[in-house]
Amino acid sequence: MQPPTTPANPISGANRTRQDAARLGANHSILRAYAEAVRRMKALPSSDPRNWNAQATIHLQACPHGNWWFLPWHRAYTQRLEQICREMIGDEDFALPYWNWSRDGRIPPGFFDASSPLFQPGRLAGQNSTAAAEMVSAAAVERALAPTNFEVFGSGRAGGQRDQASQGPLEATPHNHIHVFVGGEMANFIAPVDPLFWLHHANVDRLWETWNQRGGRNPTDSLWRDLPFRDFVDRAGNRVTDTSGAVSSTAGLGYRYDGLSVAEAPGLAGLRATAQNFGGLAQPDLALVAVSDLNAAPVTAGRPHSLRARATPAVQSMARAAFAAPAGAEAMMAAPPPSSALANPERALIRVAQIDAPARNENVIVRVFVNHPNLTAATPVSDPHYVGSFGFFQTRFAAEVCSTNGLKASYLLDATEVLRRTGHAGATEADIQLMPVDVEGRPLAGTEFYAQQAEVLAV
Ligand code: C2O
Repeated sequence: MQPPTTPANPISGANRTRQDAARLGANHSILRAYAEAVRRMKALPSSDPRNWNAQATIHLQACPHGNWWFLPWHRAYTQRLEQICREMIGDEDFALPYWNWSRDGRIPPGFFDASSPLFQPGRLAGQNSTAAAEMVSAAAVERALAPTNFEVFGSGRAGGQRDQASQGPLEATPHNHIHVFVGGEMANFIAPVDPLFWLHHANVDRLWETWNQRGGRNPTDSLWRDLPFRDFVDRAGNRVTDTSGAVSSTAGLGYRYDGLSVAEAPGLAGLRATAQNFGGLAQPDLALVAVSDLNAAPVTAGRPHSLRARATPAVQSMARAAFAAPAGAEAMMAAPPPSSALANPERALIRVAQIDAPARNENVIVRVFVNHPNLTAATPVSDPHYVGSFGFFQTRFAAEVCSTNGLKASYLLDATEVLRRTGHAGATEADIQLMPVDVEGRPLAGTEFYAQQAEVLAV
């Protein structure tokens, strides 16, 4: 049965458009309105659930990470805060700005003035620091938007709100990176005390909307749609219940975006065209193609960590189809595979699994390569064996403290093109290689982590 949900604020005909903060600039009325709303929320008594710190505590106590409620829960959370902002400043037209880190990887102007409510002491990123391109650039975001399956794109299926499943590339790459790049409070689960948090999540939300507009379909499973989020309050401070189903479209939620493009760098049109209209599968149909032995050695800075995924005899025809370009001919002559779709898998995914994230210092970017003959820390991300990069955000805490299912963290990356490009006909194994590098030259000490297994999955 569908739990009762609290209707969203109807659009009053007002112009509630979330806009790019860097374009608005520090003195724009929207940034000033946001600063005033934050100031008033900070001034509320701590017993008022709309108090600024009380709002941030919701995140610490309830945020889903590493599962398929990551996107809808943060959408509901951001939208409820936006409504509280409207109430605080008596402006029904107010909409949060967003931080489009693909267009400009610097913290937007207006957040560094120590006398402003938008200032947060203790950040590691300064005014001239720029988020790592491999994590947030238009190309990285296009990679994150490429998966056709929600449970790959938007993190994986779990049973409970904070349980571990897998982190998809939107969460794992730009999302996690921005948290550790900004640093300070943004790098832990009390992150929403930093007013930047809400601009960051508005952009993540915008990218989910972008994926939907390109044809990506959200889950229809009632487990996803109906799980009640009992964590938020409305603009009057009354408890509300939200669900993923109620926020799965931005239509009717009282805001829209000024644009859904990833960035405005020239040369993206082609990428967009290939990603569009892919008629996303609502249900996952992931088949295990190959799996590595356990590697219990720590992953340490500057050294490649190799996980050699091998196909079992039963799935070798699928592996050959996934590992060589162009997929097809050979697999078609092999014994009939379990499902004909998998003779020519649409996408091949790498799951880096059995992860124990860094225990203290998460200032690390993990590059993933396949089949590189002599990978070093200096191998550039332009190398044809490069699959993508991921980062951590309180990942060990999420798995060991917040989650109840006992699973370790895992990350899914789309490796279709790289596997086909670097594999060779008849291959039944792929060497999946991790290379940790630093964030903005920050010390890597303490960033050791474990990634014991890798899998290749076909969809
Ligand atoms: Cu629950 Cu970006 O945080």
